[in-house]
Amino acid sequence: MNLLVLGRGKTGALVAEVAEQRKHRVRVAGTKENENGVALTPDSLKLIDAVIDFTTPHCVLANIEACVKADKNMIVGTTGWYQELDRIRALVEQNKTGFLYTPNFSLGVNLFLDVARVAAIALCHDYSGQIFERHHATKKDAPSGTAIALRRVIGDASGKKDEVEITSFREGEVVGLHEVVFESGADRIYLCHDAKSRRGFAEGAVRAAEWLAAKKGFYDFKDVWREL
Ligand SMILES: NC(=O)c1ccc[n+]([C@@H]2O[C@H](COP(=O)([O-])OP(=O)(O)OC[C@H]3O[C@@H](n4cnc5c(N)ncnc54)[C@H](OP(=O)(O)O)[C@@H]3O)[C@@H](O)[C@H]2O)c1
Repeated sequence: MNLLVLGRGKTGALVAEVAEQRKHRVRVAGTKENENGVALTPDSLKLIDAVIDFTTPHCVLANIEACVKADKNMIVGTTGWYQELDRIRALVEQNKTGFLYTPNFSLGVNLFLDVARVAAIALCHDYSGQIFERHHATKKDAPSGTAIALRRVIGDASGKKDEVEITSFREGEVVGLHEVVFESGADRIYLCHDAKSRRGFAEGAVRAAEWLAAKKGFYDFKDVWREL
């Protein structure tokens, strides 16, 4: 595929590397190459099959709108924009493009979400729940999109919405650590996912782009990762 990776930061740079290893042709655009959306006009996207976005909450909505209007499939790893999810879903469906997003492209984290979904029944048996998340000091949003997804999964599975508090820590070089703790008078249950590197995100994002090729519609990675 001809892929455009938006963002040459910690994750975008690795996505480009993994995509090249998987034999795709890759162009990368950071802030400079995409000034005023210049990398995302229908003309600049003419030869591109799909756009992968790992940028910032500030610019991601403008990037999405430009790609959808240019009729391009898009894979979005950037977090911090989900308050606009319904509007973007409507835009994608109206324009009949392909769109796939997730706060976490790691297969391990998606498996972890399934484990948390099963364990959430604890809240119906005298346990209280807490989520702790740790990330590197330069992460811009808090709580993390993955922590919010964990809280939603636990709330949906237990029927106890918003009962689980999230505590965020920003320190050092932590790639991404998420813990769920259920506690009763008798014991504690600890569930933990600790990302060792960003490679899991990058591989998931590139494989998601391959999965989305020639598809149309709005997809959440948690519903499709088993098909990769
Ligand atoms: N879904 C997942 O699996 C996953 C995994 C990791 C991270 N993330 C999310 O992905 C995002 C990026 O994370 P990161 O750790 O890679 O951040 P980062 O290292 O700060 O990189 C962000 C990059 O965005 C670029 N950028 C800013 N505005 C832009 C624009 N208008 N057009 C193109 N590029 C632009 C910046 O370019 P310059 O350097 O040129 O200014 C920078 O390289 C965050 O929202 C993070 O939460 C998601």
